Amino acid sequence: MNTREQWGSRLGFVLAAAGSAVGLGNIWKFPYMTGQNGGGAFLIIYLALVFTIGLSVMLAEFAVGRAAQRNPIGAFAVLKGKLWPIVGFLAVLAAFLILSFYSVVAGWTIAYIVKMASGALVGGADELGAAFGNFISDPVQPIIYHALFMGLTIAVVLGGVHDGIERACKVLMPLLFILLLVLIGRAVTLPGAEKGLEFFLMPDFSKVTAETFNGALSQAFFSLSIGMGAMITYGSYLNKKENLGKSAMWVTSLDSGVAVLAGLLILPAVFAFGFDPAAGPGLTFITLPAVFAQMPGGTFFGVLFFALLTIAALTSAVSLLQPIVSYFSDEKGWNPKIAAVVAGVVIFTLGIPSSLSLGVWSDFHIIGEKGFLDSMDYVASNILLPVGGILITIFVGWIMADKMKEEVTNNGEKSFPFLGAWLFICRFVAPVAVAWILVSGL
Ligand code: PHE
Repeated sequence: MNTREQWGSRLGFVLAAAGSAVGLGNIWKFPYMTGQNGGGAFLIIYLALVFTIGLSVMLAEFAVGRAAQRNPIGAFAVLKGKLWPIVGFLAVLAAFLILSFYSVVAGWTIAYIVKMASGALVGGADELGAAFGNFISDPVQPIIYHALFMGLTIAVVLGGVHDGIERACKVLMPLLFILLLVLIGRAVTLPGAEKGLEFFLMPDFSKVTAETFNGALSQAFFSLSIGMGAMITYGSYLNKKENLGKSAMWVTSLDSGVAVLAGLLILPAVFAFGFDPAAGPGLTFITLPAVFAQMPGGTFFGVLFFALLTIAALTSAVSLLQPIVSYFSDEKGWNPKIAAVVAGVVIFTLGIPSSLSLGVWSDFHIIGEKGFLDSMDYVASNILLPVGGILITIFVGWIMADKMKEEVTNNGEKSFPFLGAWLFICRFVAPVAVAWILVSGL
């Protein structure tokens, strides 16, 4: 019996997985993290981690998912059992936590399309900073946009893997690339943009600290959507003929390509208008609107930009909901549509305190000085994803190596030139390096 849904084509799968990877992590987080961590040096460390550890973890997840044809918890149960399903459980937990705050921030991007289009975003960085602060601390408005975004996410997942997720990504991902290229064309031709390009592309290693590595690693995991079972789930809908290594290479390259392009878009614009690249999370919502306000055609480009962010966030959010849906339908026999709605509503509810933590509940701290949203992000991105990555690579490298070798070579039919390197990274490099970076960051 094999009634599991499958992707329609290799392209559809790659675009869906790239849709998962490319998101707020690339366009919102990556440029400001680069700005805070010294520009080019961060970029080099980031790319080095992505194409060694990141790529290997992604391939490991594809292999586990396709071998098992199950959701993350079920996958570890059918492949090995014992305590291993706990890894899948941590993965599904991470999906819940991440989606709850991800949807809040994604809601802001929808709000900013509206604000941009209605001409509400005028003034310099100070005024726009105040406007942003007022908006996110409002107890009602951001929650409405959060609900709207969750509704869109549920709607795509309700369509199913093939007719919902794959079809949406096949339209939205090319659109995203086009929008990105149009915007970059605008940004790099601004007078003074060269300074931003230089900052982004010329490494200054004197700014590198242990924190740089820590930031680059958690960013790599978050951006590639690895360590939490999204790629296990997407891999589980793959047919047995697809070349896993090639697909992982494509998805990783597209994801880092978009991160680099986002850097090329945002940093030149920020420098051209003399703003601070180290402005942090506000870079996208404060500094950029200030740039758009001064730029010829700014309203038009501003609306395009926030539409781009919403699209990128949506194709990622569906990959956070789908592992949960597939768990409840594979293991508990739920109708997937009911699972999508129930999980979506629970996650929406969990997101409410995240949104309120930026306003009325800002005095309420969970971890150290961190409010609810920052605590969710910290637990998920800095702990659950790296721990998930360590356990998945140990599983593939040590526990199931023979079966996984068969899986990535399609039972010996496809040669995979990096087999030895991949297993070596899964066995030694990834667990040790990730554990080391994780511990040094605590
Ligand atoms: N990779 C997505 C981004 O960069 C976020 C994400 C993380 C999606 C984990 C799925 C799983 O925005």
